[in-house]
Amino acid sequence: MSLKSSPTRYGGVAVAIHWLTALAIFGMLISGLSAANTLDEATRLTLLRGHAVMGTMIGVLTVLRIVWWVFFDKRPREVGGMSRAQALAARSVHYGLYAVILVMVASGLGTILLTGANLQLVGTAPLPLPDFTLAPPRTLHGILARVLLVLMAGHIGAALYHQFVRRDRLLARMGLGR
Ligand code: HEM
Repeated sequence: MSLKSSPTRYGGVAVAIHWLTALAIFGMLISGLSAANTLDEATRLTLLRGHAVMGTMIGVLTVLRIVWWVFFDKRPREVGGMSRAQALAARSVHYGLYAVILVMVASGLGTILLTGANLQLVGTAPLPLPDFTLAPPRTLHGILARVLLVLMAGHIGAALYHQFVRRDRLLARMGLGR
């Protein structure tokens, strides 16, 4: 597989970033919801340490992905046979995912920094963790987590529809199968 995309398939860099980010986001949704719902402070701290490191990595990967598209690679052509409305919906979900991911990362970092929890994450301040709900970005973070779930459901549903109903081997464009 070439590093750059062709008119019909995504290249190695885009494929690697796509699947790494997808996997990491599942981990983020699980660790974030678990942290928000656990009463045990030590468990919450451990979950949040992983959450913060992985979330920052997702932010870096997403910025790299945008830089890659803008300066080094050209997206494959849109999938054929879609109506205008379907093409518009696909594009909106893709850009929506980028935007929501970037704002989730910024609001997560904002929550940690505004509450001073960064000191507990690196182990230089004692527990308990602060009340995150006092930091305005925490509200946005929680709302966007739900928006992200809806966008992901649309994105995954559309991919499965293409693959198994229209049978146009869409997943092969993103490196899965031939
Ligand atoms: C794509 C990136 C991210 C995703 C998908 C994500 C996901 C989530 C989810 C689902 C929750 C629970 C929301 C709720 O129940 O209302 C959460 C909470 C939280 N996240 Fe993130 N997050 C991301 C990035 C980050 C980053 C980069 C940080 C910090 C460096 C962070 C810090 C937090 C904090 C402090 C909470 C609150 C936990 C609590 O209430 O105990 N998040 N996140």
